[in-house]
Amino acid sequence: MSHRKLEPGRLVVASHNKGKIREINELLAPYGFDVVSAGELDLPEPEETGTTFEANAALKAVAAAEGSGLPSLADDSGFCVAALGGDPGIYSARWAGPDKDFAMAMRTIEEKLQTVSSGQETNRRGSFVAVLCLAWPDGHTEFFRGEVEGDVVWPPRGTEGFGYDPMFRPDGHDRTFGEMSPEEKHGLSDDREPLSHRARAFTLFAEGCLKG
Ligand code: IMP
Repeated sequence: MSHRKLEPGRLVVASHNKGKIREINELLAPYGFDVVSAGELDLPEPEETGTTFEANAALKAVAAAEGSGLPSLADDSGFCVAALGGDPGIYSARWAGPDKDFAMAMRTIEEKLQTVSSGQETNRRGSFVAVLCLAWPDGHTEFFRGEVEGDVVWPPRGTEGFGYDPMFRPDGHDRTFGEMSPEEKHGLSDDREPLSHRARAFTLFAEGCLKG
């Protein structure tokens, strides 16, 4: 599938989430963009009324592109727990409440897991999903999805990263995302597939829109 190329220049990261903005900036660093966040441009944070990661990523990217007149990259992402039917999923930020209390949100997940397994062995499978949407001021959009599978860990471990990182151990690794440096979580430093959902989506975006 052919994608519209993005020429180097000013690019808006359409997010108000500090953890995400930091990771997207790290991923964009080698490509020479002049990156500015939606918050720095005083762009409003649109309400995420979509029912899919794609719809919410588009809401944010299109609003930022219209508000700024610049190409804008949004990430909609979440933590999906198999035994909870994929929850919190697109509602991952909301489960932490207005105070962004992720210790409480992680506890809620563990309590719900215990309730649904009611004495049986708990299914601890989970995944992180990220959908990147790149929107141009003329309304054109491109989408890229990344996912990473693993186990839901209790108690949470580590102080790196953000959000639900301390309760997720990706397959093939002993440590949680909360115990990994940013470089390890991205997993871009060797010839293998990138590790995090965001780095996987970003690699598809880079191959589709940035290279050659
Ligand atoms: P939204 O995409 O702004 O709706 O929010 C996504 C939410 O999912 C974040 O606030 C985090 O709670 C969670 N999330 C997404 N990506 C990650 C990640 O890489 N690590 C930990 N939590 C994440």
